[in-house]
Amino acid sequence: MSILITGGAGFIGSNFVLDWFKQHEETLINLDKLTYAGNIENLQSLEEDERHRFVRGDIGDKNLVNALLTEHRPRAIVNFAAESHVDRSIHGPEDFIRTNVVGTFHLLETARHYWNTLPEERKAGFRFLHVSTDEVYGSLSEEDPAFCETDRYEPNSPYSASKAASDHLVRAYHHTYGLPVVTTHCSNNYGPYHFPEKLIPLVIHHALAGKPLPIYGDGRQIRDWLYVKDHCSAIRRVLAAGKAGETYNIGGWNEKANLDVVHALCDILDELRPRSDGRPYRTQITFVKDRPGHDRRYAIDATKLERELGWKPAETFESGIRKTVQWYLDNPDWVRNVTSGAYRDWIDKHYVV
Ligand code: NAD
Ligand code: DAU
Repeated sequence: MSILITGGAGFIGSNFVLDWFKQHEETLINLDKLTYAGNIENLQSLEEDERHRFVRGDIGDKNLVNALLTEHRPRAIVNFAAESHVDRSIHGPEDFIRTNVVGTFHLLETARHYWNTLPEERKAGFRFLHVSTDEVYGSLSEEDPAFCETDRYEPNSPYSASKAASDHLVRAYHHTYGLPVVTTHCSNNYGPYHFPEKLIPLVIHHALAGKPLPIYGDGRQIRDWLYVKDHCSAIRRVLAAGKAGETYNIGGWNEKANLDVVHALCDILDELRPRSDGRPYRTQITFVKDRPGHDRRYAIDATKLERELGWKPAETFESGIRKTVQWYLDNPDWVRNVTSGAYRDWIDKHYVV
């Protein structure tokens, strides 16, 4: 038996692949285009591991995907591959439409043709697990209840609109063709191998480099944070027991305002790696121009996943964020390698402080 993962060299995908082999023996085919966000170095520890087959390629390349499916005959596809950064989608939405919408469409088409070739006894057990986001539900006010699976879609950024479009295609492939799909909607992840364009790794990296810590607008926007390994365990659970055609929210009940997250990071760094001048890292905080169309609050109600599939996160925000800071302190080479070229161009283009 085998499974096919897409985007498995990115932040969540590589954590998923690494964790997968702690519990599974079956072959995992990892298809990743290695965009600026994909980093094969994350998977260095699997270099000699025959269970892991890495293939560089695009989810939209139907010939390649078809060849992989025909050769390996996987029992499931888990689709992590996407353009994932909201700010980049505002600067240039086209890549988001190409991969998140058109790429997912091609992947679904190829998966459908492959699924039709499976013997009847394997068809029902097959899964196409689509990894989506809480952002498709739009933005909450402070009084609103957390997002649940039946909420309507109200995506606000080109990124979330592209994810919403892909979710609709996934849903349609179940309704129309019977493809056994499941879709997950997770809140904000953090943890090891997180590319330092996103808030938490960016702040850790900039703090240690003595650079400004940019806070958009008033910093009171709320995100619901989940340690990446908990997201991975939820996906494994949905893959094992999720019902075809269903959607599942994934979250850790950890709503925090951005400024509070940055304060927490600064305080942990003050303790673990104090600045040489003895001043607190909070002095590096700088308020910058807000993100256009910035969603005010996300919050996930994960009751369905907890009740129906018995999943619970292992980490609290306090334990997860400490592990994360420690990981970045222990892995300066990883940060150095990913913050060359493309990263620096992005910072110069995006942050006009
Ligand atoms: P990421 O940007 O770190 O990684 C994306 C990976 O996909 C990269 O390895 C990249 O090379 C690969 N990729 C991009 N385009 C591709 C293509 N056309 N074909 C093959 N591979 C391609 O993203 P992430 O943060 O790991 O997110 C993974 C998935 O989880 C995404 O679908 C995202 O929407 C979703 N998600 C992310 C979060 C979060 O907080 N990061 C939360 C909820 C859902
Ligand atoms: O909610 C899930 C989503 O979380 C995923 O679908 C996305 O792929 C992922 O990138 C993430 O989106 P966000 O936009 O919430 O994450 P980001 O880390 O970019 O920003 C988190 C918050 O911090 C957001 O309110 C914007 C703010 N921010 C971000 C950056 C990069 C700042 O204030 N300053 C910054 O420099």
